[in-house]
Amino acid sequence: MSHQLLKGKKGIIFGALNDQSIAWKTAELCFAEGAQLVLTNAPIALRMGEINKLAEACGNAPVIGADVSNDEDLKNLFAKSMEHFGGQVDFILHSVGMSLNIRKGKHYTSLDHEHQHKTFDISAMSLHRVCQVAYEMDAINEWGSIVALTYIAAQRVFPDYNEMADAKALLESIARSFGYHYGVKKKVRINTISQSPTPTTAGSGVKGFGGFLSFAEKMSPLGNASAEDCARYCVMMFSDYTRKVTMQNLFHDGGFSFTGVTAEVIEQMEK
Ligand SMILES: NC(=O)c1ccc[n+]([C@@H]2O[C@H](COP(=O)([O-])OP(=O)(O)OC[C@H]3O[C@@H](n4cnc5c(N)ncnc54)[C@H](O)[C@@H]3O)[C@@H](O)[C@H]2O)c1
Repeated sequence: MSHQLLKGKKGIIFGALNDQSIAWKTAELCFAEGAQLVLTNAPIALRMGEINKLAEACGNAPVIGADVSNDEDLKNLFAKSMEHFGGQVDFILHSVGMSLNIRKGKHYTSLDHEHQHKTFDISAMSLHRVCQVAYEMDAINEWGSIVALTYIAAQRVFPDYNEMADAKALLESIARSFGYHYGVKKKVRINTISQSPTPTTAGSGVKGFGGFLSFAEKMSPLGNASAEDCARYCVMMFSDYTRKVTMQNLFHDGGFSFTGVTAEVIEQMEK
């Protein structure tokens, strides 16, 4: 059921790889809620062609390639998006993450630091790049909203999350720091949503993901939040109902973050 919460709003969605992606579900829901969209992903991801299906389902939204670690790509993305919309953008979803060290099975204590640099660039500094390019081009309307996705490994240790934990800590810090400056300049809000483990391409790349998913499910009074649940939260954050929420890390995890232990986990330990 649509409430047209985003009627008349225009947004850019980063990171829809396939129909499991959190960005994919969010794009579908934003469109259903009345938004006009531009979709973007790394040129290499676009070659897989999946995103064209999403573009069609979102009113033939333009698909514009951009590597988030490349300023020129981002400038081109914002210029073309504003041309398409005939004006500024109201919201942005940053749903991007990549770790070469995780992909290559490197342990946290023996990382390849070139790879680590790339991980930080793509997964965290990219939020700063997106914000800075938008800020310099004055590409976002007053009361605009930027959301980036993160994970609780930024606050607590989950050993197999590896270097991505450090990337997420940096991402959350950038949301706070840029949130201050963009708020003062243009009333643009910037927040991170700290999502439950979710079965997607990026999520499933983390070692032991299956076991971890069911552990989180048992440790969350409301159960894990799905990609669809996350899409609903993103829509809320893009809507006019959250205008004064900024610089926050918002846990969206069924209560996991504030649960010490659950009866279900105790029962399992007693077996
Ligand atoms: N899946 C989970 O368990 C989980 C939990 C919490 C947070 N998150 C975060 O949610 C976000 C979305 O991930 P997802 O789980 O939907 O997985 P996903 O694999 O569907 O999405 C990751 C996206 O990042 C894109 N990307 C990678 N390198 C890029 C680059 N250089 N330029 C532009 N785009 C690039 C990929 O093409 C892909 O579309 C990520 O930030 C991830 O860390 C995921």
